[in-house]
Amino acid sequence: MNKLKYLALSKHIPIISDEALALIKEIIIANKYQTLLELGTAIGYSSIMLSETVKYLETIERNEVYYQEALKQIELYHKEKVITARLGDALTITPYKEGYDVIFIDAAKAQYLNFFKRYQNYLNENGVIITDNLNFHDLKLELVSKQTKKLIKKIATYRQFLINNEKFTTTFINKGDGLSISKRKVKE
Ligand SMILES: C[S@@+](CC[C@H](N)C(=O)[O-])C[C@H]1O[C@@H](n2cnc3c(N)ncnc32)[C@H](O)[C@@H]1O
Repeated sequence: MNKLKYLALSKHIPIISDEALALIKEIIIANKYQTLLELGTAIGYSSIMLSETVKYLETIERNEVYYQEALKQIELYHKEKVITARLGDALTITPYKEGYDVIFIDAAKAQYLNFFKRYQNYLNENGVIITDNLNFHDLKLELVSKQTKKLIKKIATYRQFLINNEKFTTTFINKGDGLSISKRKVKE
C-alpha cells in the first residue's frame, strides 16, 4: 500500500477511496483539465495522487496540524511545483486563481451546499465541480445519533439542490462513498 495512504489510515484520517480517485483522474485526463482546486487537504493524500494529472493544484485545509503534515508530504513527494497548499477556512479564504477546471469538494459535509454556492463562481466555463462522500456510508436514519441525523439531512438537501439546479447538470455516481459531478448547462 502507498505509504501516505497507510499513514492516513493509521491516523484514522478519512481519505478518498481508490475508486473515486481513479474516476476523478479519468475525468481530468479525458477533458484535458489542467487546474484543480481542492477543499479539504487533510494530510495531502488526494492532492498528491491527483497532482500527477494536472498542472496546478491548489488545496485548502483549516486544521493546522494536517496542513503542516501535508506540506511535509508534498515536499517528500517532490510535488511543490504543482501543489499549492493553503491553511484556512474554505468558506472564507480567497482562492489564488479566478477560475479552475475542477473544483473538488472534500471538506466538512455540513457545508457542502455553502461550498458549492461559493465556488461555482470560481469554475471555468467547461469545468466540473466534484463532491465526494455523498452516500454517507448508507446509514439508516433511525439507527444514528442526532448529530449524524442532521448531517444525513444536510446531504439529502444538497443532493436535492443539485437535482433541482437550473444552472448545473449533475451526475451521481455510486462509486466509493458516492460522488457527484456537476457541469454547467449549455445555454441554448
Ligand atoms: C475527508 S478529509 C479530506 C481528505 C483528502 N481530500 C484526501 O482524500 O486525502 C476532510 C478535510 O477537510 C477539512 N475541512 C473541513 N472543513 C473545512 C473548511 N471549512 N475549510 C478547510 N478545510 C476543511 C478537515 O479538517 C479534513 O482534514
